[in-house]
Amino acid sequence: MSWEFNLKGRDFISTQDWSRQELQFALDTAADLKRKFKVGEPTRYLQDRTLFMIFFDKSTRTRNSFEAGITQLGGHGHFIESQTSQIAHGESPKDMGIILSTYGHGIAIRHDLVPGQGNAYIREVAKWADIPVYNMQCDVDHPFQMMADLMTIQERFSTRSLRGMKIAVSWAYAPSYAKPLSVPQGLIMLMTRFGADVTLARPKEFALMPETVEAARANAAKSGGSLRVVEDMDEAVQSAHVVYAKSWGALGYFDDKEGYLKLAAKYKDWRVDNRRMGMAAPEGVYMHCLPADRNNEVTDEVLDGPRSVIYQEAENRLHTAKAIMALTMR
Ligand code: CP
Repeated sequence: MSWEFNLKGRDFISTQDWSRQELQFALDTAADLKRKFKVGEPTRYLQDRTLFMIFFDKSTRTRNSFEAGITQLGGHGHFIESQTSQIAHGESPKDMGIILSTYGHGIAIRHDLVPGQGNAYIREVAKWADIPVYNMQCDVDHPFQMMADLMTIQERFSTRSLRGMKIAVSWAYAPSYAKPLSVPQGLIMLMTRFGADVTLARPKEFALMPETVEAARANAAKSGGSLRVVEDMDEAVQSAHVVYAKSWGALGYFDDKEGYLKLAAKYKDWRVDNRRMGMAAPEGVYMHCLPADRNNEVTDEVLDGPRSVIYQEAENRLHTAKAIMALTMR
């Protein structure tokens, strides 16, 4: 492994916090770690390091990619549910950040269910911690998912720059719960950074946080990409190289499940099926961070079909998490 950039000690809370070159360096490191994992080459770059993983929400991919990842790097991960720690009794992010910094080498936090809270909480821990702090998904961004998604696109299309690529990020119907906005927000911010032409499609009630849309517009202006916002899924998927459709909640409805379900039910036809994938570019792929609400957000025929890269995306969560830990916790 080469150390082209010195990222030791850096937090990773939003992809916006790292330069494009630093992000690409992390992706190249992930590719190196992926190859080594596949051939069984040891990568014990973080021997005896400890990572604290604090969850305010459920997880399959994130927890297991971090926990397996830190083990494969030679360290150990502590799984901490907020409800079984003193966080539940109101312990401050300041005290936790300071104290865990004296016990180990990295703090990773998922706090994604309440708009306006998670990112602020993670940044408050980071302000006081003197070890790297990682965002395992907040209300604003899901940066480790974004890195896995970008790695998957770069692999699939054999390119680093996304200039000329059309990416459709669309809301999709799911009759479950108001999911965080952080995946679509993270996508529009990161993909515009790498030069993509991004179309965001959502019903009018499912607008994203305005500051993330503004950030994406600024990124596009700098990279030569673009951001377009429409209220029609068909318009977004037309000629798209990537169709990334998933459900998210409506701001103002996160503590009103019945209201959210009633609102979402107005848009049951926002689903990706073979008809819609037929409108994408011939080489276009379907992506989803998972878990997917099968046959609501997307049909089985698409999810299990030849254009779906969902398992490659999920696999790349491991390699991108390892890369960022290896580069920052060493
Ligand atoms: N994509 C993702 O973050 O999955 P989990 O919620 O299972 O961690």
